[in-house]
Amino acid sequence: MLEQKPRILTGDTPTGRLHLGHYVGSVENRVAMQDQYDCYFIIANVHAFTSPERMENPAGIRESVLEIATDYLAAGIDPAKSTIFIQSEIPAIAELTFFFAMLIPFNRLMRNPTLNEEIRDKGLGDKYSFGFPMYAVGQCADILAFRPELVPVGEDQLPHLELCREVARRFDIIYNKVDPHTEDKDFVKAGGVFPVIQPKLGRVKRLVGIGAPSPETGQLLKMSKSLNNAIFLSDDPDTIKKKVMSMYTDPNRKKATDPGETDPGKNPLWAFHETFNPDTAWVASTREKYKAGQVGDVECKRKLVDVLVALIDPIRQRRLQYEKDPAEVLKVLKAGTARANAVAEETLRLAKQAMKQDYFPRTLSL
Ligand code: TRP
Repeated sequence: MLEQKPRILTGDTPTGRLHLGHYVGSVENRVAMQDQYDCYFIIANVHAFTSPERMENPAGIRESVLEIATDYLAAGIDPAKSTIFIQSEIPAIAELTFFFAMLIPFNRLMRNPTLNEEIRDKGLGDKYSFGFPMYAVGQCADILAFRPELVPVGEDQLPHLELCREVARRFDIIYNKVDPHTEDKDFVKAGGVFPVIQPKLGRVKRLVGIGAPSPETGQLLKMSKSLNNAIFLSDDPDTIKKKVMSMYTDPNRKKATDPGETDPGKNPLWAFHETFNPDTAWVASTREKYKAGQVGDVECKRKLVDVLVALIDPIRQRRLQYEKDPAEVLKVLKAGTARANAVAEETLRLAKQAMKQDYFPRTLSL
């Protein structure tokens, strides 16, 4: 039965625990899609080694792999329905990466805007490794090894998915003799091994953090662990309260007696209420009062604490259960990795057959 559902593939690089930005960008979608889709969630541990600092702290990467798996289970990803697995334990991914690298012009790879933003924002200069741009090729293999229909991601991942679509088309055209005029949705029907996948964006493209806007652009910054402005799915009610009550507020907001209006867009409080508060009538009317200076930050913040605790606390409670039992988390990962290998090995076999490099059959033991 599981096999007949369309597949989805997505995942995360283990860089720490998951936060609310991950939740509305993708995790929430994954939980909702578990029943209709055969879901594969990759923990991209090899990609964690692309960072010069992280690669020197392999114990930190290992710990983060387990943290992310624990967060997935806590957020409601059900290992009886969905497959959670570790990237480095899927040999077909590494093998496909090498073949796919031949299908991507080098200069095309280096024009990828997500790679270039990372080089700029992380100050990698010209110090990055060969493996850094390679991760974008590897991500095509992460995805295509599972021949999924949909890939739920945040907006920043779209350039990687476009590359993945190009790789699928080129492979199918060259090795499966698919007519280049074929429509994207028909590549497999036309005899291709790889589908031209579709991205699926979360309901919020970019959640802001709890800190001040960027001094350069004046815009509120994206929620990110490295910017120290995140609320984590594992935060306890006290921590949530502290973070919300000390959240940045617009210092130029007006009092009721001042002329003009306060812009709620300059205050992350409102982005959070609009994203998470189920009481939309309260949000709409209080936002108007806020604009007119008739309601204080503290009152709106208190309300937000309640909203976020109601969302996060059930997740945290489930997390505590799994934290007590790391062996159970490893068991889930092992079973998931075995299931993922069954699919990825079959994909590799089909790809090698198309490339006429299918010399000897093989079986994996995990
Ligand atoms: N690059 C993604 C991120 O940093 C993680 C990732 C790795 C991924 N392989 C993937 C996402 C395949 C979707 C599909 O968030």
